[in-house]
Amino acid sequence: MEFRSCNQPWFEMQLLHTSTYRACCYYAKELDNTPLDIPAIWHGEYFKNMRRLIAGGDPTGSHCEHCDYIKYVAEPRFLQIPNYVTGARRKNWERAIEFHRKGIVDIDTFPVKYYMQFGVACNIRCIMCNHPERYIGGENMELSAESMLRMAEYLRLADSVHVIGGEPLIIPNAVRFLEGAIANKDLRDLQYNIYTNALNLDEFLDRFLALERVHITASIDSSGSHYEHIRRRSSWTKVTQNLERFVELGRQHRRLQWGVTISIALMKSGLLGLPELVAWCIDNGFLTNIFNIHDLDGMRNDEEHVFRNPALLKDVPGWESALTQSSQLFSKAGRHDEARRLEEAVTELATAAADLRTGRKRIAPVRPDIGWKAVFSASGELLVRRLDQFLYGRKDPQGNVRACSDGILFRPTLAKDHLATQFLPCHPRESDGHRWVRLVYKWSDPTIDPESAIVVVQDEQCVVHEPYSTEVRLRDGVEVTQYVALPASVQTLRIRVTLPSLKSAYIPETIRLDQAALSPFRIVQNSLRRAVAPA
Ligand SMILES: C[S@@+](CC[C@H](N)C(=O)[O-])C[C@H]1O[C@@H](n2cnc3c(N)ncnc32)[C@H](O)[C@@H]1O
Ligand code: SF4
Repeated sequence: MEFRSCNQPWFEMQLLHTSTYRACCYYAKELDNTPLDIPAIWHGEYFKNMRRLIAGGDPTGSHCEHCDYIKYVAEPRFLQIPNYVTGARRKNWERAIEFHRKGIVDIDTFPVKYYMQFGVACNIRCIMCNHPERYIGGENMELSAESMLRMAEYLRLADSVHVIGGEPLIIPNAVRFLEGAIANKDLRDLQYNIYTNALNLDEFLDRFLALERVHITASIDSSGSHYEHIRRRSSWTKVTQNLERFVELGRQHRRLQWGVTISIALMKSGLLGLPELVAWCIDNGFLTNIFNIHDLDGMRNDEEHVFRNPALLKDVPGWESALTQSSQLFSKAGRHDEARRLEEAVTELATAAADLRTGRKRIAPVRPDIGWKAVFSASGELLVRRLDQFLYGRKDPQGNVRACSDGILFRPTLAKDHLATQFLPCHPRESDGHRWVRLVYKWSDPTIDPESAIVVVQDEQCVVHEPYSTEVRLRDGVEVTQYVALPASVQTLRIRVTLPSLKSAYIPETIRLDQAALSPFRIVQNSLRRAVAPA
């Protein structure tokens, strides 16, 4: 989709429990600490600036430059107004389409879609999710139900409200919001999309009968014991029964616009249970949304991320036939897009696993005469001063980062807390379109676990660039070297440091970032070969 076609800031408002606001999930900069006032926010500078950027048609250097949404979504949403939308609601929507088409940034319409994240509390403990840990670590603020309901005059102009958590069906404000919406006849005919683990959906079924349009997006990544291993404290029997009952109740009461989508995150522990899950989805007519597991702020999913580390697949004999069988089930049911999505996953994983077996991805040692130039280098107290502290949780009166005799101690209190350098320039060069940097960091304690701090390079869009190769050496301590290839579009970089959990830990005492004058590796058909000698 062309950048100019993106219409998110004309249509969607996202409100988060952290008193921050934005127009979509992909835009890296949120509007912070602003009172919850829909017209003031929607007609204010933050949203106007986003509209101005899109109307100008050039994302270069902005937070939209590398947007995945634009890359992967072919058509903008919100251009077709369904027939059931009438009156003031239709007028609002039509005017918003017109404002976007003409590139008008100062608009008098209101959002057509609201996305509300009410908090991060949860009743279960999924192995790949950091929400429960964030809640336990003190991130217990909630988006206020009462504030939202007080603004019903704007909500009623919208078509849909999307409610998410944490687990929205146990977050008090999310529940009060849904109850308030059900009690208000002006809000009853909106579409309510609820993103849930569905474990206590049964407690809401009768209450939802007051609503014409309810869509449940339930996260179920596998079946039976595989599901229960991933979604700790949940029950496969209960969630499947709850969703079947929801559909049955909708049928009995002729709720034609009630629906279910199953959200499936592909990960190591779920692969073998996929055929049973897919068969259940097909039997019940549930559509699916299938995506790969990813890392979250302050949580690397090293045990489950088979896409990053296909070596994990050796612990899952039968994974390939389970995925293939699931894809075939979709095919037989005529659900070709979902079948293709799973085929893609099989191809990606099988290729990576084969590369691993033949050693095609192993990298030869770097030549010594590459000519590395330092972009950043600091140790001890200087390093502490050069790391900006992004602290969202409690500020420790003694300082959350301190250099002491044993090293540099970092005490985060929220998973989002991190340290980062300023953005550093990254020089253009290289004929193959890639530039190489080397991130070297070191602890003087030889017993330290090199994974006790997570040190990465991030570009100006905050995209983390994974290393092609990582070496760990015992050299007067523990020294880690990551080699990272950067796409030509990257202009600046920063070094970010996080911890794998909320436990205080020592970060490296020395961090250095070098850029190569010559390419140390050459990438040939997705595998890395030793560099040819520099001319
Ligand atoms: C954080 S949950 C909140 C809503 C609700 N509790 C649920 O589980 O659906 C939103 C979505 O994020 C997904 N999710 C959580 N951790 C993830 C990870 N590490 N990688 C990919 N998706 C993840 C969940 O599966 C779910 O579909
Ligand atoms: S149910 Fe949702 S919020 Fe809760 S731990 Fe699982 S993915 Fe995270």
